[in-house]
Amino acid sequence: MAVLVGCGQAPKKGTTSNVTKQDFGKTPDGVPVELYTLTNGRGMQTRIMTYGGTVVSLTAPDRQGNFADVVLGMDDLAGYLKGVPYFGALIGRYGNRIGHAQFTLDGQVYRLAANNNGNSLHGGNRGFDKRVWNAAVKGDSLELTYLSKDGEEGYPGNLSAKVVYTVTPADELKIEYTATTDKDTVLNLTNHSYFNLKGQGEGDILQHEVTINADHFTPTDAGLIPTGEIRAVKGTPLDFTKPTAIGARIGQNDEQLKAAGGYDHNWVLNRSGAGLVKAAEVYEPTTGRVMQVWTTQPGLQFYAGNFLNGTIRGKGGKVYPRRGAFCMETQHFPDSPNHPDFPSTELKPGETYDQVTVYHFSAR
Ligand code: GLA
Repeated sequence: MAVLVGCGQAPKKGTTSNVTKQDFGKTPDGVPVELYTLTNGRGMQTRIMTYGGTVVSLTAPDRQGNFADVVLGMDDLAGYLKGVPYFGALIGRYGNRIGHAQFTLDGQVYRLAANNNGNSLHGGNRGFDKRVWNAAVKGDSLELTYLSKDGEEGYPGNLSAKVVYTVTPADELKIEYTATTDKDTVLNLTNHSYFNLKGQGEGDILQHEVTINADHFTPTDAGLIPTGEIRAVKGTPLDFTKPTAIGARIGQNDEQLKAAGGYDHNWVLNRSGAGLVKAAEVYEPTTGRVMQVWTTQPGLQFYAGNFLNGTIRGKGGKVYPRRGAFCMETQHFPDSPNHPDFPSTELKPGETYDQVTVYHFSAR
């Protein structure tokens, strides 16, 4: 093959962006919402809307190479605005719960919305999941930014958050989070996608086999607030160090499972230092789909969709039954601002919050 040189033009490479954009309606206060489609040229595709920075759909191949949408969601913006339990959304400022909806930082008490049994859940009444993010296409990635003003939902500091979504040629959905603040604050960002590797709306997830790279978890009280203890999983139904079906032990008469109505806990990931570690692997036996979760975060909230109850009709009119999906929310530990022994969630001016989570898909 002859190579053209010296014609004054650099060879074109990778110029066809795999990100496209469409309108996705308006919020009740008239703010336009956009929907972006990201593909990796190998069949994997995700759609992300600027409302909540939400993953609306995500396709992955089964062992025959057939793609299915493996995340729960709604067909249109109106469906999300009616109220959904954080389907696919970005969560901030603080993923999961803060006990008694308050924390103390630099000697000052900050009060938050008590939106979950007297505690604060997922950033309060109007967290990052209910904000319209600004979008920019950067190469093959979608970059979302949001400026959370000082005092928003009770949290201190003007916080500049950036989340970059990429569908990589290695069949991964990669999510990169960075943030800076102008005042000391606390921060715990995550994504709340609900997965069903059989396909969204295809029944429950009890046969999915889960492995979690964690020897310990953070037990909770009845309100799902960590007691502060770091407890070994060994000998408990929370031991997922070997592949185990979600349904195998979820109904056991265990004090932790009873409090949460099933799995809804934070696992303390095994790690020997900073960087990406494999947090979990999930295998679905009928389709062969496998999802691996890799993260730089210290914790993983594995939630078995216990609060889904069949009342939501999602994409394509599918009914989402109890445990019709599971979440793997990579995060810092719940209620960390009230547990000085937990890895710190404090962010100070001049520092950059920087976390990465990768959901990798394959089949066997
Ligand atoms: C998280 C929580 C659950 C539940 C869901 C949303 O996973 O840990 O208890 O609140 O979000 O319903």
